[in-house]
Amino acid sequence: MVIKPKVRGFVCVTAHPAGCAAHVAEQIAHVRAGGPIKDGPKKALIIGASTGYGLASRVAAAFGSGAATAGVFFERPSEEGRPATPGWYNTIAFTKAAREAGLYARNFNGDAFSDAMKQEVVAALKADLGQIDLVVYSLASPRRQHPRTGAVHKSVLKPVGVPYTNKTVDTDKGIVSEITIGPATDAEIADTTAVMGGEDWELWMDALEQAGVLAPGATSVAYSYIGPEVTWPIYKNGTIGLAKNDLERAARRIDARLKAHGYGRAFISVNKALVTQASSAIPVVPLYISILYKIMKAKGTHEDCIEQMRRLFATQMYNGNPLNFDDGGRVRLDDWEMRPDIQAEVVKIWPQVTTENLAALTNITGYRTEFLKLFGFGLPGIDYEAEIEPHLAML
Ligand code: NAI
Repeated sequence: MVIKPKVRGFVCVTAHPAGCAAHVAEQIAHVRAGGPIKDGPKKALIIGASTGYGLASRVAAAFGSGAATAGVFFERPSEEGRPATPGWYNTIAFTKAAREAGLYARNFNGDAFSDAMKQEVVAALKADLGQIDLVVYSLASPRRQHPRTGAVHKSVLKPVGVPYTNKTVDTDKGIVSEITIGPATDAEIADTTAVMGGEDWELWMDALEQAGVLAPGATSVAYSYIGPEVTWPIYKNGTIGLAKNDLERAARRIDARLKAHGYGRAFISVNKALVTQASSAIPVVPLYISILYKIMKAKGTHEDCIEQMRRLFATQMYNGNPLNFDDGGRVRLDDWEMRPDIQAEVVKIWPQVTTENLAALTNITGYRTEFLKLFGFGLPGIDYEAEIEPHLAML
């Protein structure tokens, strides 16, 4: 079939297999160009491995330090007349490249929140790899069925306490408008924490530890975001921010547990705001990202997921470097984003943006390009008019 982008609001319902493969190849090339990461991970489990920061972590581990990788993700295969989701194609491309390079790569497509998935992965790790030295927790999900209670929790992106009014952009139509989001109920706050908080990360670490598959000195990392004040009501101080506080709580607990055995470490890395399937669903944030991209590209400091993850591995986690923590005990990969000169420009541009000047004052075109790239569109060297086989088997 000929596959074209079909954008519906903040999602694209199609994905291009060759384009996704080219996107993965770009990420691999970036990591290879950066050279080997000394003392990097050797055997890694990545939970949320098929897109965004998780995929970039997997690429950095495999192609930066030759790690064997196991990846867990939740992607939909192709159906009659319908391509698969991008993470499906990304993973096939990654796995082919890893195996061609002589690296172990095994994939688990299903619900990471379930006990069944944890048991399946633990058994496979035990059989294939013995012990792993890195666990990356990079899930972003709108829902979680709790493995013990069976309750289905749905996350919401809302402010807490008071309504929030600010500008937002319809990235597809290019229309800037004002949006008011009512505060979350207590139940919505609890549900969002159940989905995006740290409990599931702890359950994964419990399962891995109990099975004896964590190597001495093992590292575990999960990702968070803080961002500028303009987004705090919807992010840092909103439902998702409270869930991230819980993720930080889990990091401290996991870290203490690993250290109680005399080894290991767990921490949070605060990453840069980037276009991913998860971030495009947050109100207000895509407008901020469009402004941020304009400023950071002009200053030559723009990074995408793969640049961020290679930097995390090469300058913080490995290569003989110690982790550099902020006052809250977090690693800050958002340091360039949060530089005062960059944020001062955001504050200057923000109030001026309208539908009419959106293209001039922001990098909305860059946002759209990056968004389509997530689905394998707009990659150089791909003939998007050509027939392509959408039905690819998972490897
Ligand atoms: P993403 O949407 O690109 O990736 C999410 C991953 O989770 C995918 O691999 C998906 O298959 C997997 N997943 C979702 N539900 C699952 C389930 N039930 N079982 C198994 N796998 C499942 O998201 P992104 O943006 O890479 O987010 C990853 C982490 O990074 C999140 O914690 C997010 O808050 C954080 N982060 C994102 C930033 C951004 O600007 N995008 C900035 C800073 C942190």
